[in-house]
Amino acid sequence: MTLVSKRLHHQSATKKGRVEMEHQTFKYRDYDVPVHLANKTGGGPENFGEIALHHQSLIHHWIDIRPSDRVFEVGCGIGHDAIPLAETLTTGVYQGIDLIRPSVDWLNENVASKYANFSFHHLDIEDDLHHPTGKMRVEDVRLPAGARSVDKIFLFSVFIHMYRNEIGHYLKEFNRILAPGGKGFRDLLFHG
Ligand SMILES: C[S@@+](CC[C@H](N)C(=O)[O-])C[C@H]1O[C@@H](n2cnc3c(N)ncnc32)[C@H](O)[C@@H]1O
Repeated sequence: MTLVSKRLHHQSATKKGRVEMEHQTFKYRDYDVPVHLANKTGGGPENFGEIALHHQSLIHHWIDIRPSDRVFEVGCGIGHDAIPLAETLTTGVYQGIDLIRPSVDWLNENVASKYANFSFHHLDIEDDLHHPTGKMRVEDVRLPAGARSVDKIFLFSVFIHMYRNEIGHYLKEFNRILAPGGKGFRDLLFHG
């Protein structure tokens, strides 16, 4: 095999591996979750359920999500939190945002299609790790929620990917969208 044909062979094997990986799923509740999208959340199939359970106990403890709450999640990933929440947020509303378009599409096709009170939105924000081709800066983003229209906001492992000025911008946005008496929670501490 020449060097060029070796390289082409390697490239096509890598592409084949990637395509195969994109078709692999694992079972979580009633869902067939794509492995490659779960891997982008910092965990993987092996601890998906455990992380989801832990997150649920934190959000219920810190912001006491009620079935009728209007909930906003920043960085919803592939639904660690939205999937279990869909079963308890019966009369409320959930909106999730994320930069990874395939994850947002998967959540709309699989979760929002079953739960009409759930919706997921893609934000075209540039981020080296999650969305390098994004066209917007965090500071220019207006979160897709009206003033004082949200009761609870939460986010897990998102601020750790952001710069101080970007976090500052989101905090101002949270202030705009939170209804009086509303609460926010991020994985370490934050409630208002
Ligand atoms: C480590 S993952 C955590 C995902 C999810 N919160 C979870 O716990 O499974 C971080 C997520 O934040 C999203 N993200 C990063 N920067 C963001 C931003 N400025 N606005 C919204 N989402 C963002 C990424 O696309 C990614 O899905």
